[in-house]
Amino acid sequence: MAEVHDRPPEQFTLKMRRYDPESGGAPYWDEHTVELEPHRSVLEAILQARDRFDGSIGIRCSCRQAICGSCGIRVNGEPALACHTHLDAAKRGADDGVIEIEPMGNMPVIKDLIVDMDAVHWKKIQRVTPWLLAKQPVPEREYIVSKEAMVDVTQTMGCIQCGACVSDCLAMEVDPGFIGPAALAKAYRFVGDPRDDQQFERLNDLAQDPQGIFDCTHCFKCVQACPKDVNPMGQIMRLRRIATNDHHINGKRHEAAFTTLIHDNGLLWEAELLPRSYGGNSWFGKFAPPAGKELLSSLPAILKALVRGKVTPMGALKPHKLPKADLKSVQAIYDKIESRDERYELNLYITGEDEKATPPGDPVAVGVTHEIGGSEPPPVGAEPTDTPTETREPREG
Ligand code: FES
Repeated sequence: MAEVHDRPPEQFTLKMRRYDPESGGAPYWDEHTVELEPHRSVLEAILQARDRFDGSIGIRCSCRQAICGSCGIRVNGEPALACHTHLDAAKRGADDGVIEIEPMGNMPVIKDLIVDMDAVHWKKIQRVTPWLLAKQPVPEREYIVSKEAMVDVTQTMGCIQCGACVSDCLAMEVDPGFIGPAALAKAYRFVGDPRDDQQFERLNDLAQDPQGIFDCTHCFKCVQACPKDVNPMGQIMRLRRIATNDHHINGKRHEAAFTTLIHDNGLLWEAELLPRSYGGNSWFGKFAPPAGKELLSSLPAILKALVRGKVTPMGALKPHKLPKADLKSVQAIYDKIESRDERYELNLYITGEDEKATPPGDPVAVGVTHEIGGSEPPPVGAEPTDTPTETREPREG
């Protein structure tokens, strides 16, 4: 490490997106060359450019240690914490050696690299009731909660509210009303907390909202963007599973129809999905009145797809099937998953790999901590440790 820090200062050119709404002018690109050691951060480079060349450059920062989440920007088109991005790495990632710096996406720009997080990010966080609604009666001293239960919500507690996931969310780009990855990860923090009294109400609210948990399109952008490995999309999927499997909130029948069709055919048979979602898996399910109603409302889309050749009548009516051997492989996956006694979801952030994680209730799960990319997880059967080795600082925003 000493060698890395001993490297002499080098020149780095920053190409910054500038915008000052009060000036009435359009956004423009501005370039400055700074001189710093390569291990220094992009934030230090921006601050040097501001000190030496242009005091009007707008950037927000505070801790400079990847803790406060203030310095979210885009570096070479990717969301990042400016204080947590080394200059040499940023230069390597730049097309022509010039580091491109822009404000985060999906949020209005206040000035230069400063975005209005109140207008989007914080508004959405407020939407999910980001506090504990305590079970009554409140105990005289503290609630007694299992360690596993708290380990389970630790991943979402690692969020520093930097907005990187919001910046890169494709669903929000298309539908700005989508509650979004940061707020939904926050929602899991309370849905997964056994001290909270409103699990069903929270999930029902987020499932019924057309811009809630079912609006996520699984693009994985938030997973890649998060500098703290909070895995927002993973938390959204967990919200969905608890809502549908445990509380039978809407989506359960659709999910059952989907999985049954894949089990039977190996591929999705779209034409059968709607009737099975409403009428169940029997042949008579097709005649369930709500299915007919939904089918009628979907007719314009179906006709459009037929006219454009995206579907053919026979293609829609006949099941798509995999060859027998491949279908057997798909069904073997079902057998393996369904042979498990219960669903368990200790998060990967803590346990490393879910296959080796021990189900809740087993003492080995207590205190089992392993960072992705870190050392091997403790072998199953090893003595439990009382001290988590998780190196990040979980913080509730
Ligand atoms: Fe606090 Fe970068 S300045 S996270």
